Amino acid sequence: MVSTPLLEAAELISRERVAPGFWCLGFRSPEIARRARPAHYVAIDLPGTFSVRLPLGIWTARDDTFTLLFREWGERTTRLACIADHEPLSIIGPLGNEFSLPDTGKRAVIVAGGIGVVPFWLLVRELLAAKVRTTVVLGARSKHMLVGVDELRALGAEVKICTDDGSAGTRATALDLARELAPPDIFYGCGPPPLLRALGEHANAAGIPCQISMEETFGCSMGTCWGCVVPIRRGSPQAVGYPRATNEKREYDFARVCVDGTVFWSREILWNR
Ligand SMILES: Cc1cc2nc3c(=O)[nH]c(=O)nc-3n(C[C@H](O)[C@H](O)[C@H](O)COP(=O)(O)OP(=O)(O)OC[C@H]3O[C@@H](n4cnc5c(N)ncnc54)[C@H](O)[C@@H]3O)c2cc1C
Ligand code: FES
Repeated sequence: MVSTPLLEAAELISRERVAPGFWCLGFRSPEIARRARPAHYVAIDLPGTFSVRLPLGIWTARDDTFTLLFREWGERTTRLACIADHEPLSIIGPLGNEFSLPDTGKRAVIVAGGIGVVPFWLLVRELLAAKVRTTVVLGARSKHMLVGVDELRALGAEVKICTDDGSAGTRATALDLARELAPPDIFYGCGPPPLLRALGEHANAAGIPCQISMEETFGCSMGTCWGCVVPIRRGSPQAVGYPRATNEKREYDFARVCVDGTVFWSREILWNR
């Protein structure tokens, strides 16, 4: 289901450097926190920048507060990491659709790459509350880039970790590690596109339902600029009316990741277009 977003002045209440270059910021923002569902994100207007709003996934949400977990990449994330204490920020959220849950008693495997762990705190909380047996496979390039492990374990999830350089957990990719587990009833994925594509192909070949939260470069985050489209199967419920020339013969449609996603079934995504 797609959420109805609202604009809220969110007050910064906590700031923690969780790993080199990675930050967890807490905000008091009662309405957004109350409405947050697994895979929802917010769009932040950063004072002092000319850029469009910064989209970031909601990491944790409790009572009237939520947290964001992000990596410092460029201008906007660097600006966010050093905003003044108690500075109110204009935040729109929660945005996007949400992950679907399987029935009680089923088994779920979550495959997360690096900062792609963000949508999974809320999801793990929901899955465990629904008595779905849940394993999170979390991969990163090295141990310094593994974030969120303690928080997921504190929820009660089984978390298996792996790194490309073997500096923590198994030396493997998250998908390689996930393949060693018994086939689940459903996969969930978020992370770098090559990981998501490989996960989607693996799940499709094995006939296992798989939901993927995608990230594109966003402009408006509100569905109006059409800057974030991805090709998906023709006739998908998420395919919307992207303008089509009358003589155009393409056999696929487009969806806007910002409002028609960010969650898609892997079988709907056309990676090769
Ligand atoms: C729905 C959604 C949710 C998101 N959630 C999160 C989140 O929870 N945590 C988080 O850290 N980020 C998240 N992102 C990414 C985030 O929105 C920014 O794109 C990213 O943090 C860079 O922002 P910036 O303005 O600081 O850097 P920019 O100025 O946009 O980029 C600086 C430089 O880094 C490069 N770069 C930017 N992003 C990446 C990337 N992902 N991988 C490799 N190079 C990159 C750019 O090409 C550029 O050279 C999300 C994006 C979307 C669309
Ligand atoms: S970012 Fe503008 S339509 Fe998605």
